[in-house]
Amino acid sequence: MRILISGGAGFIGSHLTEALLAAGHHVIVLDNFITGRPGNMEDYRGHPEFEFHEHDIVEPFTGLTAPVEAIFHLASPASPVGYSAHPIETHLVNSVGTHNMLKLARQYGAKFLVTSTSEAYGDPLQHPQREDYWGNVNPVGPRSCYDESKRFSESLTMEYFRQFGLDARIVRLFNTYGPRNDPQDGRVVPNFINQALEGRPITIYGNGSQTRSFCYISDLVRGLQAAMFAEGTKGEVINLGNPDERTILDFAETVRRICNPEAPLVFQPGRVDDPNQRCPDITKARTRLGWEPEVSLEDGLLKTIEYFRSQAGQRQLKEKSV
Ligand SMILES: NC(=O)c1ccc[n+]([C@@H]2O[C@H](COP(=O)([O-])OP(=O)(O)OC[C@H]3O[C@@H](n4cnc5c(N)ncnc54)[C@H](O)[C@@H]3O)[C@@H](O)[C@H]2O)c1
Repeated sequence: MRILISGGAGFIGSHLTEALLAAGHHVIVLDNFITGRPGNMEDYRGHPEFEFHEHDIVEPFTGLTAPVEAIFHLASPASPVGYSAHPIETHLVNSVGTHNMLKLARQYGAKFLVTSTSEAYGDPLQHPQREDYWGNVNPVGPRSCYDESKRFSESLTMEYFRQFGLDARIVRLFNTYGPRNDPQDGRVVPNFINQALEGRPITIYGNGSQTRSFCYISDLVRGLQAAMFAEGTKGEVINLGNPDERTILDFAETVRRICNPEAPLVFQPGRVDDPNQRCPDITKARTRLGWEPEVSLEDGLLKTIEYFRSQAGQRQLKEKSV
């Protein structure tokens, strides 16, 4: 199958590319590197079925030499550091960019999947969050460039499904982590691991009682493929995440235990509009896709820490050779 991935040079997109290439597909990636990294694609750049176009999807893409059969639309800054640095670009990629990807899918009659986010639920008043919950979002706060543009992206996608019968689905992703997480993007997993590995204090915003659930990347990539290709997902909204809910304090202590028991914990003021609780209800993914996460937090963390250690080792080698 010929498959297009927008945002394929990012953390999730690069793992999805690798899995689709391994399954024998031809993969075309569009990315403008606003938050992605060329290094994420190093492991398969020379693969004969891999095609890369440096392209901002806010502009129409006209470089396809043959039809595509499926489009995974992942392009968007995803971390608070990423979207705070690029709020207008975030609005545009999730509005105009989504429209361009939907038009392309319609033109070729391709299946379409857009990655939305648990942040579409805002600071949720329902717990755990089910897909039919409408959310509690501050429409003008500092996170709204992400939350609201993702909600727009969902709404536009549903319009293409309703008006044109596009074979489209929306997946709402919850915190995902693993190798190729950008160490600089400020998300809690790379932050805590890097702080612990470097012997710096592990920084907790607020008192640490806020909860998150962490999904390992290989589990998520299985879920994305199931959501795209399983029967009966057309027009559906599906949560993908790990329901193993942890407080941030518990998570910090787990990272400290595995990485560096000497690392101190420090508490800083909470962030604006930071949700108190976040945990997916994945009943729909379980029943419709037969999907659920398999990798435990401890196992996933070990693999992620190994990756961050190897990256730090490579940086040191480079510094020595300069
Ligand atoms: N990682 C998570 O925990 C998480 C959670 C919820 C939702 N998501 C969603 O999953 C998707 C991928 O997230 P990620 O963690 O891999 O983020 P990422 O920042 O690593 O990847 C996003 C990619 O999109 C690219 N991009 C952004 N704007 C673009 C544009 N205009 N044109 C072309 N490329 C563009 C970036 O350069 C980057 O490579 C995003 O849509 C994000 O909102 C991720």
